[in-house]
Amino acid sequence: MPKYLLIRGARQLLTLRGPAPRRGRQLSELGLIQDGAVLVADDKIHSVGASRRMENLKEARLAEEIDATGKVVMPGFVDSHTHFVFPAPRLDDFERRIAGDSYLETGRKGGGIHATVQALRQTSPRGLESRGLRWLKMFAACGTTTVEGKSGYGLSPASERKTLRVMKRLNGRPLEVVRTFLGAHLPPPEYADLPEEYVTLVTDQMLPEIRRQRLAEFCDVFCDTGAFTLAQSRRILEVARALGLGLKVHADQLSRLGATRLAVELGAVSADHLEQAAEEDLDGLAASGTIATLLPGSVYHLGSGRFAPARQLIERGAAVALATDFNPGTSPTLNMQMILSLASTQMKMTPAEGITAATINGAAALRRANQTGSLEPGKFADLAIFDAGDYREIAYYFGMNLCRLTMRRGKVIWPEIGAKVEEET
Ligand code: NIG
Ligand code: FE
Repeated sequence: MPKYLLIRGARQLLTLRGPAPRRGRQLSELGLIQDGAVLVADDKIHSVGASRRMENLKEARLAEEIDATGKVVMPGFVDSHTHFVFPAPRLDDFERRIAGDSYLETGRKGGGIHATVQALRQTSPRGLESRGLRWLKMFAACGTTTVEGKSGYGLSPASERKTLRVMKRLNGRPLEVVRTFLGAHLPPPEYADLPEEYVTLVTDQMLPEIRRQRLAEFCDVFCDTGAFTLAQSRRILEVARALGLGLKVHADQLSRLGATRLAVELGAVSADHLEQAAEEDLDGLAASGTIATLLPGSVYHLGSGRFAPARQLIERGAAVALATDFNPGTSPTLNMQMILSLASTQMKMTPAEGITAATINGAAALRRANQTGSLEPGKFADLAIFDAGDYREIAYYFGMNLCRLTMRRGKVIWPEIGAKVEEET
């Protein structure tokens, strides 16, 4: 007999039931049930409905109970864009930017992505793993149940492999970890004057090897000034596509090279950032199957003030997702609640639109909308309980953690039962 669990009494149960991804006005539809309950059988959702009806189900009588009285219950966040495996924060860059340097200037002065690459190459897999584990627990504590992670701080076959293998070992501890190869983050220092040769290394050696060893499901490229040109990005993405990897693009973040259009043309799963996207590219993106993943944490942390055109995208019918972009250079937060605050206050997305973008649309951006991102029978029981009587509070309070319980695949992953302090290695 399956193990049943009944989460009951939720003041607001957000089911997010319905089609995926959500576009336009559908982004506001949360499938809200007042005084709702979720019945979980093993790792899956058995049924969802009003507490009174659910309590009468025969399976509910056998169930262990979780009391969610007065709280908001919703799908766990699906954070579809992060760089969470990194060796150390970049505190000198932070102070240089406070003193007035731009993000690119810090890179030219010995900081930036290259500083992280140098450190990652010298960090053991175990060292990366223990740091990653620490972050995953914090993601869970903030209500996230699925996280995407990118390589891209290795930039050599061995170091990219090392990063992806670390993520593979971190899968399920306790979050679902989805791996993306970002070997084309920047040309590494040893190829500084030979970017085309580095692209060839990526296409002819790294990508086929990653595919053979099943180390990544997606391939991403940083298409920007100082990173990869549009033509180089195309070369890499076309090879990745031919190998069967899903495509993602860091598009129009710092400058506009046409990457949004390229993502649409190649049928990318998502085009991410879009802060500098041209108005004329938005219609094409909105009409396509490519998800517009917005990352307001990086705009906030860099202080550029130029947020992606969320309202225009939504009004044109784009499928918008939100993610943290958790990384040491531009977005040191892993808290999706903070991202919802930024989405509302800076990009004028309503709390309901934000929640949809951070759950079911995030799941669609990882091709997992059929298994997570909404509370519907048959899907994994991935959910979070917030200490709020109204879902809008999650976007309203900022810099706080309202998450009181997180469940992945039917198991409570936060708070940890009998947790002990992890030792640093
Ligand atoms: O998404 N833009 C490229 N990649 C990251 C930043 C990485 C870093 O600075 O370490 C981003 O913002
Ligand atoms: Fe990123």
